[in-house]
Amino acid sequence: MNVLFLSPAYPPEMQQFTRGLAEVGATVLGVGDTPVSEMPRRLREALSDYLQVPSSLDLPDVARRLEAWLRGRSVDRVETNWEPLTLLAADLRARWGLPGMRRDAVLGFRDKVLMRERLEAAGVRVPRSARVRTLDEAWAAAEHVGLPLVFKPVAGAGGADTWIARTREELEAVLQRTAHVPEASVEELIEGDELTYETICVDGVPQLESCSRYAPNALDARKNEWISPIIMTLRDLESPEVADAVAMGRRVLEVLGMGTGFTHMEWFRTHATGELVFGEVACRAPGANMVDLMNYAGDVDLFREWGRAVVHGRVECATTQRYHAAIVFKRAKGRGRIVAVEGLDAFLHRHGPHVARVELLPIGAPRRDWQQTFLSDGNLVVRHPDRAQALAMAEDAAANVHLHAR
Ligand SMILES: Nc1ncnc2c1ncn2[C@@H]1O[C@H](COP(=O)(O)OP(=O)(O)O)[C@@H](O)[C@H]1O
Ligand SMILES: [Mg+2]
Repeated sequence: MNVLFLSPAYPPEMQQFTRGLAEVGATVLGVGDTPVSEMPRRLREALSDYLQVPSSLDLPDVARRLEAWLRGRSVDRVETNWEPLTLLAADLRARWGLPGMRRDAVLGFRDKVLMRERLEAAGVRVPRSARVRTLDEAWAAAEHVGLPLVFKPVAGAGGADTWIARTREELEAVLQRTAHVPEASVEELIEGDELTYETICVDGVPQLESCSRYAPNALDARKNEWISPIIMTLRDLESPEVADAVAMGRRVLEVLGMGTGFTHMEWFRTHATGELVFGEVACRAPGANMVDLMNYAGDVDLFREWGRAVVHGRVECATTQRYHAAIVFKRAKGRGRIVAVEGLDAFLHRHGPHVARVELLPIGAPRRDWQQTFLSDGNLVVRHPDRAQALAMAEDAAANVHLHAR
């Protein structure tokens, strides 16, 4: 099978998906803006051919160049796991008459307002929300959804330009700060825990499922540099903590018309009443190293299983998780370059056998921009069959391992 994989080098996880496709027997054709000379050898080996374009995000230009490049060669599937290219993949499939999700279905996973309209119509509990383009519309929306509220761009990602307003004064300030946002969603603030639901689907039917918990919620983690965000996969999908959310997740995928591939949904459990509320869903793999995390949780290789779902229409790995696995992201104290790591030896002494990975920036490396990348200055992964112990180790890493920069 010839699979055209969009952007096989960037973001870095895409290199693993490319490998996964090749390992299950696909002939992988790639297109992206990373020069071949900058690709690791393993990636070059996984690619049968590669077209370099000036910009991966100039979608009409990429489509034009691809058609010229592919002339006379057959392609059986077009795939991507990078959100900005999901619509291009759908358009290419339609143009070439290939199986897979079409533009309208992908839009339901891309446009947060449309997504919620479709789900609300199907009876899924979503936050009250309204699409706004002007100040007047924003104030009218605030009346409709009520305070406190969340303001966020419709075409947003990574919490950029996303703000909470608890009072009219705060909303005034948020609207000033976000004057450059062309179109936003104004919505009811859901006060609760934030969790996720991931799948690998074949023709819309989940073959593998997983839930994780953000601690704290993604927005708090993104706005406060001092926090070491934790994401923990939860082992037991039948537990009361997640069982109803798994059912909601399956329904969401059915309503939105999922095809084959990864999905990543975020949802809330309210503090006040324990109510389950939908957040958002994407028809691509989760970021923030969550595929790695799920791999540690189940001793599996979901990069390859995703490839198997695409190429062979099935998965082969175990569907139960052995561990609760938690990833802890660290942000260095200070600016500049990493000068010291504190507390790691003692941490490893305490939990060595349960530490699956330590991936901190080395001494001398420049700090990453923690607002641009959730990966921050490094991470640790711990895992344990017992939920409380896994969480306690993650909290230990959050509190007691420190990077310093100068
Ligand atoms: N209605 C809401 N109530 C409470 N928190 C929200 C709400 N909408 C978004 N958030 C918070 O903001 C974060 C980012 O919003 P989200 O809709 O996931 O957009 P994106 O991930 O594309 O930036 C969420 O992960 C969540 O922590
Ligand atoms: Mg999100």
